Amino acid sequence: MAFFTKIKNLFNRKVLRRDRDRLNYQYETGRWGTLGDLEELSRFSVIAGYAQFLKPQGRILEIGAGEGYLQQRFDASRYSLYYSTDVSDVAVAKGKGHENEKTRYLVADMNTYVPDTDFDCIIINEAIYYGGSVDKVLGRLARYLRQDGIFIVSVNGDARNEPWRRMVNESTFPRIDQTVVQCTRNTFTITVLGK
Ligand SMILES: C[S@@+](CC[C@H](N)C(=O)[O-])C[C@H]1O[C@@H](n2cnc3c(N)ncnc32)[C@H](O)[C@@H]1O
Repeated sequence: MAFFTKIKNLFNRKVLRRDRDRLNYQYETGRWGTLGDLEELSRFSVIAGYAQFLKPQGRILEIGAGEGYLQQRFDASRYSLYYSTDVSDVAVAKGKGHENEKTRYLVADMNTYVPDTDFDCIIINEAIYYGGSVDKVLGRLARYLRQDGIFIVSVNGDARNEPWRRMVNESTFPRIDQTVVQCTRNTFTITVLGK
């Protein structure tokens, strides 16, 4: 990366505290590399299982997908469309190689993104923390969810995320099911909500 680009990014990250620059830096320096580890597989498997069972051949939007590990663990024959989106263009670029005629990797901010289509299933996998509140994020995205569509939200077990678990449990969106995954690295509460 050119010297002046590095300085600009440093300024954006440290002085302006721009989220995208900070996240890009984290992806460039490998901070999120562990998300592809075996210890994360059970979380991805439960989410993919819900989506594939409840919405066979569904149209799926993933928000805050990083470099796309969840999409890469799906059985691609079991969805008709998959948008893997993240605010970090560095993360999205890492996943681009997995694109095909029904799978797209897109740069999108969950707080402003306006999709060009609608979906059967919207997944927010360990990314809800970057929205103002659970119902704020889901309420905005509900416009792009079909009438009988579902949300799938994963919140990890870190103590600081207790408010997020509570917000999911107290959401105005109706709960369809919930699974708690206990794996070596962490605990994940995965909740399926209706519209
Ligand atoms: C903990 S990582 C999870 C990544 C991925 N879902 C996974 O589980 O492997 C959180 C992700 O949220 C993304 N993110 C942060 N703010 C965002 C925003 N406003 N809109 C979309 N994605 C965002 C980050 O870039 C990062 O990739």
